Amino acid sequence: MKITKICCIGAGYVGGPTMAVIAKKNPHIQVTIVDINAERIAAWNDKDVSKLPIYEPGLAEIVEETRGKNLFFSTEIDKSIDEAEMVFISVNTPTKTYGKGKGMAADLKYVELCARNIAKVATTDKIVVEKSTLPVRTAQAIKSILHNTGSDVNFSILSNPEFLAEGTAIQDLLNPDRVLIGGESEEAIESLAQVYGSWVSDDRILRTNVWSSELSKLTANAFLAQRISSINAISELCEHTEADVNEVAKAIGMDSRIGPKFLNASIGFGGSCFQKDILNLVYIARSYGLNEVADYWEQVIILNDHQKRRFSDNLISTLYNTVSGKKIAMLGWAFKKDTNDTRESAAIYVADHLLNEQAEIAVYDPKVNQQRIQADLNYLNTRTEKENEELVTTFDDPYKAIEDAHAIAIMTEWDEFKTYDWKKIYGIMKKPAFIFDGRNILDKTEMENIGFEYSSIGK
Ligand code: NAD
Ligand code: UGA
Repeated sequence: MKITKICCIGAGYVGGPTMAVIAKKNPHIQVTIVDINAERIAAWNDKDVSKLPIYEPGLAEIVEETRGKNLFFSTEIDKSIDEAEMVFISVNTPTKTYGKGKGMAADLKYVELCARNIAKVATTDKIVVEKSTLPVRTAQAIKSILHNTGSDVNFSILSNPEFLAEGTAIQDLLNPDRVLIGGESEEAIESLAQVYGSWVSDDRILRTNVWSSELSKLTANAFLAQRISSINAISELCEHTEADVNEVAKAIGMDSRIGPKFLNASIGFGGSCFQKDILNLVYIARSYGLNEVADYWEQVIILNDHQKRRFSDNLISTLYNTVSGKKIAMLGWAFKKDTNDTRESAAIYVADHLLNEQAEIAVYDPKVNQQRIQADLNYLNTRTEKENEELVTTFDDPYKAIEDAHAIAIMTEWDEFKTYDWKKIYGIMKKPAFIFDGRNILDKTEMENIGFEYSSIGK
């Protein structure tokens, strides 16, 4: 099928950047991204590209280049679906918060709604592409909905999981390690391969069956998260043995079989996907009665929760076992640098723990605003919105956030933190001035020479 029009349902962290790059690299294809969230679509259409709903280095430039030419953002979902030959489903698949599988399984209601909508409005044949991360065998359910419409319209279903990481999404999309396409129909697979073929060499486009493709996505995230939990587990051992986790990571990373990437010990991984996808994997394994497999992967999450908890426990015990009434400055709230995304950020859980101990928290993050920070805390339902407002203040100026603080907690590895005037910062803090570096981005000797009481992860 020759693709001239693409519709993508879901204008989020995946749909937005992925379609922007597809549009840039395929000027002959009209790409329309639709969403039920009118406010989000309006932000994507904002003339001022600094107001786009998501922040990703390089994204604004591509949107500026393509928007209104062959990239469009719209709330006209039905029309865009029907006009397109290829429809991507790129909606959210959060962990279920109710019913069977609550807290573990992926909530597929948004995906199912999309499938039903496509079934209802399509008047011509379509290739339907699963871009969202889905449990293995979801394509079966989508197929069943699409093949029972009673009309003559034919649908081919493909799985095409996305491997981009936030903060580097545009580079990841422009130079992907691989593009994975799972499907039954060779013709449909080749139609999608051609779209990517505009900029990705064919040896990097993997064709598999649908189930391998769906399961590979969950497996890739599980392996990546497992590496972080592995190095974080070692970081705790380092703290008891005078080994240095950075030195250990370097030493093992030089083994070409292990490799150097993803070995940064941290306060624990965050982000919208690692936890949700592993929980989903655990749930699927248990549903097949594979308890040892489920327990194995669940340990990655248990260790990650432990890492977040022990960071705040250490902060409290170092501050003489009480943070009540003390100002703690948190540098960073996003789950990693170069994104405004805060979903499952370790900062939220550390802040919540410190607030339970009656700390007063001052936050500075270069890309996250007060509204988002309050919403993240309110979502936990630990205390009233008013209490969160009273105890947590957000600042636009990091030095103001730090002024008179008893301690600084570095939550996100933003580059700008490394370039601050740390002597000046020492001067404006209460003494002793503590730094808890949850990202190991500052130099211990330099900080101690200034006068700080400095602690980091795994040293
Ligand atoms: P997101 O929450 O940022 O965006 C999803 C969008 O879908 C929202 O704007 C929502 O309004 C819209 N939506 C939901 N139901 C809809 C419907 N019925 N019709 C129209 N629009 C609808 O989510 P995201 O981060 O872009 O993730 C999307 C999927 O991609 C998830 O399955 C996720 O696991 C996967 N994924 C995410 C990343 C990432 O870095 N965020 C990377 C790879 C894969
Ligand atoms: C991750 C994967 O890297 C992507 O391939 C995948 O597409 C995506 O999930 C997804 O499915 O959503 P992302 O969560 O955006 O991408 O970012 P990562 O760079 O993987 O970082 C995740 C978390 O791990 C962050 O909190 C980061 O700070 C932390 N991390 C990462 C570490 O603590 N140590 C490391 O060495 C690397």
